Amino acid sequence: MDPFRAVSCALLLSAAASPATAMPLVDCLAPAATCTLRQWADQAGIEIGAAVEPAWIAEEPQYAATLAAEFGSLTPENRMKWPEIHPSPDAYDFGPADALVDFAQTNDMAVRGHTLVWGQMAGNGTPDYVRDAQSAQELRTLVAEHIGTVAGRYAGKVDSWDVVNEPLVVLGNELDPNPFFELLGPDYIAEAFALAKAADPDARLFLNEAFVELAGPRFDAFHDLVRELLAQGVPIDGVGLQGHLLFPIFLDPQELRTNLERIVDLGLEVEITELDIAVSFLPEAERDAYQRQAYFDVFTACLEVEGCNRITLWGFTDAHTWLDDFLGNPAVDPLLFDEDYRRKPAYYGVRDALRRSIVPEPGRLWLALAAAAFAARRLRWRPRGSRTEQLAV
Ligand code: XIL
Repeated sequence: MDPFRAVSCALLLSAAASPATAMPLVDCLAPAATCTLRQWADQAGIEIGAAVEPAWIAEEPQYAATLAAEFGSLTPENRMKWPEIHPSPDAYDFGPADALVDFAQTNDMAVRGHTLVWGQMAGNGTPDYVRDAQSAQELRTLVAEHIGTVAGRYAGKVDSWDVVNEPLVVLGNELDPNPFFELLGPDYIAEAFALAKAADPDARLFLNEAFVELAGPRFDAFHDLVRELLAQGVPIDGVGLQGHLLFPIFLDPQELRTNLERIVDLGLEVEITELDIAVSFLPEAERDAYQRQAYFDVFTACLEVEGCNRITLWGFTDAHTWLDDFLGNPAVDPLLFDEDYRRKPAYYGVRDALRRSIVPEPGRLWLALAAAAFAARRLRWRPRGSRTEQLAV
């Protein structure tokens, strides 16, 4: 056993015996324990989730088994989006979303609802009959009916909703001039939150945004928006940073951590909601190590910020990732399991971050002391050796 594990296990066992710290009897740091990421995350006090599709659950036993074992939460990747669940004004298609909610309940998993209002032109956010609304009143009626029905149906089953997705224009720092903005003005965001609150008063309501992981004017604009919504009394509980890290320059762990802290400092929860880390822009020989470290860094940033409560990956196996289409490169391989559901180095980057975070603080102190003692002994040996050499000369 490596010394890190030995010291942490000893400390956990002594902590378990102490009535002051309630530790689970079987814990992931115990020598013989083999924990999945879901179990590690439980002990670390956060939730780990994945975006999923019901068809793959139905068709691939290994997909379903891996999902249930490794993740404590799921997000419907597409099936709760407006065009999917409410394809025409009078027709809802709840079947696929219901199947995911059932799967989650059977496997004791949480569900993030994604998403009620998403006005971006790209992607699959808003159906044409909504885009074509001619007046503010017509659009307001559609939005109220949609949010009331969808959030109402899943009340008590979905723990959090991305009420509004991607309010900022993709390349810029302004509100996106989408059809909701055009007809209702910036208040469309506040209105959507009020409707979601009325439909499901207990759900945690999130504003979710893309490409806000780095410091800079875009994150500042997003932060200002959130602050203004709070100042207006909008019932917002949390903020999601999507975490699509398409290129290595999209990740600076310190800046990510600061952004997470700045959201929490507003009195909100924060989550990373759509994490994937593409490697197609790196030389092949560097990909595994880079990805393992990058996953470690993202998880560590969240784990070190109290109020960062969940990290959701946008998929979990490289067999099914939206980035193959979006980036048009099959070597993009952004997730934790390979196409045959084998654990990749990235998986162990996540595991290491979770494990590190559950070594109790005194454990870190002990480790530091042990390392210092070891180093001191080595230092003492060297002068002796050199003294002998000097005498010999
Ligand atoms: C993506 C899905 O993964 C794809 O399957 C779909 O074709 C397009 O949308 N930001 C979001 C997600 O908020 O909803 C998007 O999901 C990815 C970017």
